[in-house]
Amino acid sequence: MPPSFDQVVTTLRSAGCVFAEDEAALILSTARTPAELTAMVDRRADGLPLEHVLGWAEFSGLRIAVDPGVFVPRRRTEFLVRQALALSRPTPVVVDLCCGSGAVGVALAAALPGAELHAADIDPAAVRCAVRNVGGVGTVHEGDLFGPLPPVLRGRVGLLAANVPYVPTDEVGLLPPEARVHEPLVALDGGGDGLDILRRVGAEAPDWLAPGGSLLVETSERQADRAVEAFTNAGLTARLAVSEDLHAHVVIGTRR
Ligand SMILES: C[S@@+](CC[C@H](N)C(=O)[O-])C[C@H]1O[C@@H](n2cnc3c(N)ncnc32)[C@H](O)[C@@H]1O
Repeated sequence: MPPSFDQVVTTLRSAGCVFAEDEAALILSTARTPAELTAMVDRRADGLPLEHVLGWAEFSGLRIAVDPGVFVPRRRTEFLVRQALALSRPTPVVVDLCCGSGAVGVALAAALPGAELHAADIDPAAVRCAVRNVGGVGTVHEGDLFGPLPPVLRGRVGLLAANVPYVPTDEVGLLPPEARVHEPLVALDGGGDGLDILRRVGAEAPDWLAPGGSLLVETSERQADRAVEAFTNAGLTARLAVSEDLHAHVVIGTRR
């Protein structure tokens, strides 16, 4: 007998899941067999992130495949997508750097028919996952930041989205176990003050952006001033956009 809805809720609640009813409904609607249902409930009760248990996350109204060991796209990052779309001109070249599952690039491409999408990540597991999501709508590259992008994109990128890792190294150990244990360090650790990768992306971005093209990077409230300064130092016109609802801070740098 597969567990009932109430039994799943009870198991999840005893394991500390705050939204046990919602999670139970999602697990029950995703499991294809009773054995799979039992295994999914056990994995969630063991602390695996819900999205890794389900194999997908909802992002910008889309269902994004998320493999084990790949960063789970956060709802707050939908704000970065919305900011990018507010800037976009028709059919731009779009790059999703540090793409993880590819959620940001896929959401941008879905809203910008005809856009040319390139996504890139250094982690082979993320690249495999992004290939599943980006599929026919774009190309996924593996390597360090801009390194694997086709050189022909230099000076042509209209939207450059980069949700880089931005947790300061000393604070990675303070993250909840779902992130600390189940997401790779390379997806979280942004170096001493958390801005190492953001600075590298900002410094190289002007070579890749088209005139008037923009770089968008998520950061934290505490890091925002230094992030704006890094973009300004790189020669970009920089500003901060904030969503109080989503607790999201996005630095936007535009090539003059
Ligand atoms: C915070 S996650 C964001 C993933 C995805 N953009 C999202 O919003 O769901 C950061 C990603 O950056 C990738 N990454 C870290 N350092 C990188 C580097 N030097 N070059 C390319 N990708 C990198 C990680 O593998 C990880 O997938």
